[in-house]
Amino acid sequence: MKTILIANPKGGSGKTTLATNLAGYFAGRGGRVLLVDLDRQRSATDWLARRPDALPAIRGWNGQSDRKAMGETRPDWLVVDSPAGMHGDKLTNALKRAERVIVPVQPSAFDMAATRHFLDALRAEKSVRKEKIEVAMIGMRVDARTRAAADLSAFLEEAGFPVLTLLRDAQIYVQAAGEGLSLFDMAPSRTAREMEQWQPLLDWLA
Ligand SMILES: Nc1ncnc2c1ncn2[C@@H]1O[C@H](COP(=O)(O)OP(=O)(O)OP(=O)(O)O)[C@@H](O)[C@H]1O
Ligand SMILES: [Mg+2]
Repeated sequence: MKTILIANPKGGSGKTTLATNLAGYFAGRGGRVLLVDLDRQRSATDWLARRPDALPAIRGWNGQSDRKAMGETRPDWLVVDSPAGMHGDKLTNALKRAERVIVPVQPSAFDMAATRHFLDALRAEKSVRKEKIEVAMIGMRVDARTRAAADLSAFLEEAGFPVLTLLRDAQIYVQAAGEGLSLFDMAPSRTAREMEQWQPLLDWLA
């Protein structure tokens, strides 16, 4: 079983988008996936409720649901969506269970400043210092033509953690979220550019 934590205390940085798409990716490859929703807003849980039954199954668990809902069989993958503002003991606890942490960050001064503090907090964690956990960054909603994208690239270069990929700002993410889908459930002809951008992330997780 592998546990991947998606975290950035900055609200709206793209955590749930990443978590739901990753869950869809692993499920599509035949993996047993548990999508863990640590957020009281329950966005990942709601996404799962919208997910069509015909698609590869993803189980969900949030703090409220019975532990039995996690099922009898051990999942191959635990994808953990974390809430905005997670810090302190909650962060330490979430890290305890994770092998990998993915930090999405958007090209904005506010997001980068908040993320800088979070990265400092991560570096202060023993598990990260001792390299028990691998941390990587992802640029989210990046429009390569903008000044903000250049600023983000400069920020990421100095972040001190590997940068896996930059995902563009695309409506297909919004559509997928609304329909309980991941990009990996959609016709490949619609997602070709996204798949190219996802590949380095998927390679890192392989
Ligand atoms: N690459 C993208 N292109 C377009 N829209 C995106 C992209 N990534 C995320 N979004 C949209 O941005 C919004 C915020 O994303 P998301 O909900 O994944 O962030 P979050 O970090 O989970 O937020 P919160 O901190 O509130 O839990 C959502 O409406 C989502 O659909
Ligand atoms: Mg969220």
